[in-house]
Amino acid sequence: MTMTTGEDGTEAGHFFAPDERCIGIKALAKLNLTLAVGPLRADGYHSLDSLMVPLSLADDVVVRPADGLSLTVEGPTADGVPDGPENLVWRAAERLAREAGVQANAAIRIVKRIPVGGGLGGGSSDAAATLLALNRLWQLELDGIRLSAVAADVGSDVPFCLTRRPARVSGRGETVEPLTRPLPPLWAVLAPGQWHVSTAEVYAALDKLRQNGKLPPPRTFDLAGLTLRNDLETPAAAVCEPMGRLLQQLRATGLDRMMVAGSGSTLFAIFDNEEQANHWEDRIRVHAPARIATVLSGAEG
Ligand code: C5P
Repeated sequence: MTMTTGEDGTEAGHFFAPDERCIGIKALAKLNLTLAVGPLRADGYHSLDSLMVPLSLADDVVVRPADGLSLTVEGPTADGVPDGPENLVWRAAERLAREAGVQANAAIRIVKRIPVGGGLGGGSSDAAATLLALNRLWQLELDGIRLSAVAADVGSDVPFCLTRRPARVSGRGETVEPLTRPLPPLWAVLAPGQWHVSTAEVYAALDKLRQNGKLPPPRTFDLAGLTLRNDLETPAAAVCEPMGRLLQQLRATGLDRMMVAGSGSTLFAIFDNEEQANHWEDRIRVHAPARIATVLSGAEG
């Protein structure tokens, strides 16, 4: 096996056996450090303005040649993850094959470590990694623009996940502008919720709160020249009450920077100091499982 770094910065493992070629790509978790949500659009989506960052926490996606399409899902967070057409990975493979006019022939294996349904973009990132891997396996050589259009069709977070570096994301998620300068070193303490939260429900709750004039201004937190904020925090806490209670409980310990990841149910806090992050990871563990991930700053190459 040889490990190579592709031109797009992905780390890929190529496993060569006499009759087999596998391509493996890490599917990075994401966080929205800022998330401003505009009004509901005619197409049922909302315009976003978000600073999104990839994390060191990742799934693995491995593809190899096969007749037809198959998917296996394993790993610590694989429980309940579909291994058929309902999985975004499957949709991504079929959509890419259609775009390129080829047969969707591949065996796809995912090793899941990113908490599922938690606002960390695991499913979207698996789909993005699948697009990158199959683009190579099928020797399609689709450029970033075409891949990104396919990605946007699969899900709003998928175009960002293709980028694999911090970026300003707008539109409904399809406009991704990588930051021109790396972020300072940042650590995220993640408290993955055990609750599955529907993104569509959280957006609908946001619209309702706005219509009723009941949406408080978003809380903000300043760190490393950024103003962190998440407009989905109040509606997510309304949709998933146990998550809302855990958020209050953790803030009451003195950690008022605790936030909701995307539409939940993971909670997170960002630090620009590793010792402080370790200290708070221990404190959070008294209340909920917690783990540290580093924010990939964009300086990794
Ligand atoms: O695109 P994706 O399937 O990930 O979106 C899930 C749901 O989240 C959408 O059906 C929509 O209700 C909501 N959404 C939205 N505005 C966005 C992204 C998602 O309203 N920009």
